[in-house]
Amino acid sequence: MGEKVTLQGWLYNKRSSGKLHFLEVRDGSGICQCVVFKGEVSPELFARADHLTQETSLRVTGTVREHGKLKGTFEVGVAELEVLAEPAREYPISPKEHGTDFLMDNRHLWLRSKRQWAILRVRAEIVAAVRDYFDSNGFTLVDAPIFTPNACEGTSNLFSTDYHGDPAYLTQSGQLYMEAAAAALGKAYCFGPTFRAEKSKTRRHLAEFWMVEPEVAFLDLDGDMDLAEDFLVSVVSRVLDKRRKELEILERDTKPLERVQKPFPRIRYHEAIEILRKAGHDAKVGDDFGGDEETVISQGFDRPVMVHRYPIDLKAFYFKRDPKDLSLALNVDVLAPEGYGEVIGGGQREEDLSKLEQSIDVHKLPREAFEWYLDLRRYGSFPHAGFGLGIERTVAWICGLPHVRETIPFPRMLNRLHP
Ligand code: 4AD
Ligand code: MG
Repeated sequence: MGEKVTLQGWLYNKRSSGKLHFLEVRDGSGICQCVVFKGEVSPELFARADHLTQETSLRVTGTVREHGKLKGTFEVGVAELEVLAEPAREYPISPKEHGTDFLMDNRHLWLRSKRQWAILRVRAEIVAAVRDYFDSNGFTLVDAPIFTPNACEGTSNLFSTDYHGDPAYLTQSGQLYMEAAAAALGKAYCFGPTFRAEKSKTRRHLAEFWMVEPEVAFLDLDGDMDLAEDFLVSVVSRVLDKRRKELEILERDTKPLERVQKPFPRIRYHEAIEILRKAGHDAKVGDDFGGDEETVISQGFDRPVMVHRYPIDLKAFYFKRDPKDLSLALNVDVLAPEGYGEVIGGGQREEDLSKLEQSIDVHKLPREAFEWYLDLRRYGSFPHAGFGLGIERTVAWICGLPHVRETIPFPRMLNRLHP
């Protein structure tokens, strides 16, 4: 208070009343009200301030003081104002309502709006929380390649590229490489973009999304669930701790987030089928869950629910079978509460060489491309487990957003590669 400061930023909004112009200036860290009082500036400056339009870039110098009516809110009493650049045309995104396609076409500008600003800040906090969790729990960061010859998650949604004459895919998951890393480092994780040519338009699927994938040697499915639970509690509480203001801007009810505490309920796939039946869904054993089913299942719980042991036929080639019932996979999906769907998928890996070879054949995957992966079973095979958390689904859940398109700065979806 009382200090002279200079703000550099953009005009977000302006109101005027007689002798006063109220300029809302964004500088990237937040929005500050700058008051131009006729009695305190030159007539030229006062007139200039009257004609400023949205998104003009400017430099404002003035004194910090407490807001006249709002205790604890501060404003700048403007002494000098320098216009750096006026918009060449009227800024297309006004405070009025716009359609989603229009906003998505103008995503490069839309990012400047208050809600998008808040989402980007929460996303960055989630990413920082994810990294800090693994870095401070004995994991080593290992970067997985983006070009790969391996279809980790099945062949139906691969993006293929021409790699100097050979086919290569954009990676669907870094998991297979993390299994190699777990044998080198015990606990490893990767964090990077992953790609799926999802053919359907849903509110939870992107063609390019970011995934964090821990993998741990000598861990079983129960240990994997313990890890997923501890990790999620830590991420959610960090965001509640550091990003309250942003969640408030997003009008996110934080009570359901406060309830994200251990232990999370753990139910079998078969129990999830029962829940669906009781809710009037005509679900039967063998069905996979889509977004609607996940929503119904999650509704019975006040925190994330872990659904484990799906039929092996529904799952990728690398899962270990439950020795107590060979028709089931030792896998887990973590469903976020409030209908935000699956945020984590993972489980225990098959460590037996011949069973894994069989599974690669059953899934009609090319054996040659997986020889290196099979080596991990040839040389000191070990029980291990891990999971993948989708960052965008997590951002959607924590921010309370119905669609993943706003959770990533520049979404890539079925019909969107622009801007
Ligand atoms: O369940 P998924 O397919 O699991 C894997 O890829 C494993 N290889 C991970 C592992 O065990 N290391 O994907 C994991 C998570 C999902 O739970 C979801 O949060 C997210 O990744 N995800 C997507 N997010 C946005 N758009 C998509 N198309 C997504 N597909 C998966
Ligand atoms: Mg999954």
